[in-house]
Amino acid sequence: MLENIQSQNDIVEVISQYFPLKRSGQNFKALCPFHSEKTPSFFVSPHKQIFHCFGCGAGGDVFTFIMNREGMTFPEAVRFLAERAHIDLPAEDYGRRGKKEELLKLHELALGYFHWGLMKSSRGGAAREYLEKREITADSVELFKLGYAQPTWDSFLRHAGKKGYKPQLLEEAGLILRRSGGSGWYDRFRNRLIIPVFDTRGRVIAFGGRVLDDSQPKYINSPDTPLFRKGRMLFGLHRAKDAIVKGEEAILGEGYFDVIRAHQEGIGNMVCAQGTAFTLIQAQILKRYADKVVTAFDADQAGSAAALRGLDIFLEKNFEVRIALLPAGEDPDSFIRKNGGEAFRKAVEQSIPLLDFKLADLCEKHNLNSDRGKLTVVRQMLDTISRIESAVLRDSYIKKLARKLNVSESSLREDYRKRKPRRVKENRKKEAISGPEERAQRRLLQCLLRDDKLMSLVLDEFDPADFSPLLRPIAEKMLLLYRKGVLPLSQSLPAALREKELQSLISGWLLESGGQEPVRKEIIDLLVYVKKMGLAARGRELERQISDYSGKGKDIAELQRDSRRLRKQLEDLPDRLKEKFQA
Ligand code: GTP
Ligand code: MN
Repeated sequence: MLENIQSQNDIVEVISQYFPLKRSGQNFKALCPFHSEKTPSFFVSPHKQIFHCFGCGAGGDVFTFIMNREGMTFPEAVRFLAERAHIDLPAEDYGRRGKKEELLKLHELALGYFHWGLMKSSRGGAAREYLEKREITADSVELFKLGYAQPTWDSFLRHAGKKGYKPQLLEEAGLILRRSGGSGWYDRFRNRLIIPVFDTRGRVIAFGGRVLDDSQPKYINSPDTPLFRKGRMLFGLHRAKDAIVKGEEAILGEGYFDVIRAHQEGIGNMVCAQGTAFTLIQAQILKRYADKVVTAFDADQAGSAAALRGLDIFLEKNFEVRIALLPAGEDPDSFIRKNGGEAFRKAVEQSIPLLDFKLADLCEKHNLNSDRGKLTVVRQMLDTISRIESAVLRDSYIKKLARKLNVSESSLREDYRKRKPRRVKENRKKEAISGPEERAQRRLLQCLLRDDKLMSLVLDEFDPADFSPLLRPIAEKMLLLYRKGVLPLSQSLPAALREKELQSLISGWLLESGGQEPVRKEIIDLLVYVKKMGLAARGRELERQISDYSGKGKDIAELQRDSRRLRKQLEDLPDRLKEKFQA
């Protein structure tokens, strides 16, 4: 459908409706509409159906152009261009609609099966007892549609099979796993309490599964699927959104049980992430419902850098962020269970604005009478303040900080201007293609993009995980498109990448004139280098996690295994690749 819309909307024609384009060799050029300039650096390629401005970096396909020019979202641009070409769109969605609906139906089936497992199956007794012991009421079980997965290897696989679902779909849904031997599958969730994850429209899109005892891992969650991506949704939001809108505020919990308990005790505006730090996208989603968030911390841990850092993301989205303090050792679940919902509500009412809390915490940790202490406090506070998107809010916080530290506002402002910008977005732009490692990654992708026959050469070894966070989505998409045979990549890739920044990156690569034609030898050298650096970087990341986790007493055996495996791979890599490509 998208391809159809695109092919009926020639990019040169579409752009020409807005301003005149002049032919320039194979391409067309014009003054860039997205920044002011005197000589044209805005190019449009009729062959590649993309545009790119070498002045400001804007670029992409016809959808991107409309999004930028008309200030539309992607779906809006699709609709706009479909109408322009007199193409009828299905009522609501497009593209992978059929697959998604199938997966939704399958999840619905699983939801019912697990719920039956908890309520009715004979083996569900242990799970029912577990919930009773935890004082989770029958109402909560119904509200959150909790379930139980049978302690067998393939009950769900067989159940779904009887309803006509193929293992391939079950696997894509993350509900079953392939046996490592190669043939056959088994249920992902076995002998676990099931916590369904719903989207904001109340459709079940994933599951979490908790053990009934102290064994590890405590939770298994659905992997990323076409329906669900970790870090892109908030647990409990479908139940909490009305209460959040009404009270103009969301409470952030840590885990499933914080949310379930809070709702059970009448605190209907709590949501949580799934064990990961909050993401910008989650903040953005929440922003549709409220401008304020409160998070509850164990008083002993509240001041820890990790606890506070996770909240910067909400500052970036201009939330008012406050912190409620709970007695040492308590999380919202245990606190509410002991003291009741009213006491928790009071703690939330007495919560402290993040910046005040941080300032008080820093002042306690550092001696304000020493220059060094004062400077540390200033530096850290300015760092947090700089993350706030709104200039108005930043300004009022600088005023406040000056008052509290008893320094002049103008000197604070001077220090603020001199400090290095640290905002995530700015970072990312600056970091776009930084060191030699990323340059090699970029060159590799660029070569493969120009001549996608070279993909077959590297296919076995090409691993998106070896690429930097910036380039990884591009590598992933290239691999996917190549595997599906949607070629040439130089046309399919720009259309498949929906992120503005990525589109302008690759439209630039594609239009860049000059540069040598890629040859086999260069590709192999690049691949070896990229893999080596990628493995080394992953090793470092694992080491970091291990030291992080072991400090917190978490189970690190698996991480250590991964780390050993990685080291081994790194050692074997040069020989293995040499052998492979000698032919
Ligand atoms: P309880 O221990 O039963 O109170 O669970 P909880 O939901 O309160 O979880 P906790 O605060 O320990 O962890 C917060 C969230 O992190 C959980 O809700 C899960 O989403 C996630 N999580 C916790 N442990 C694991 C784990 O072992 N594996 C994975 N994948 N996720 C986990
Ligand atoms: Mn808990």
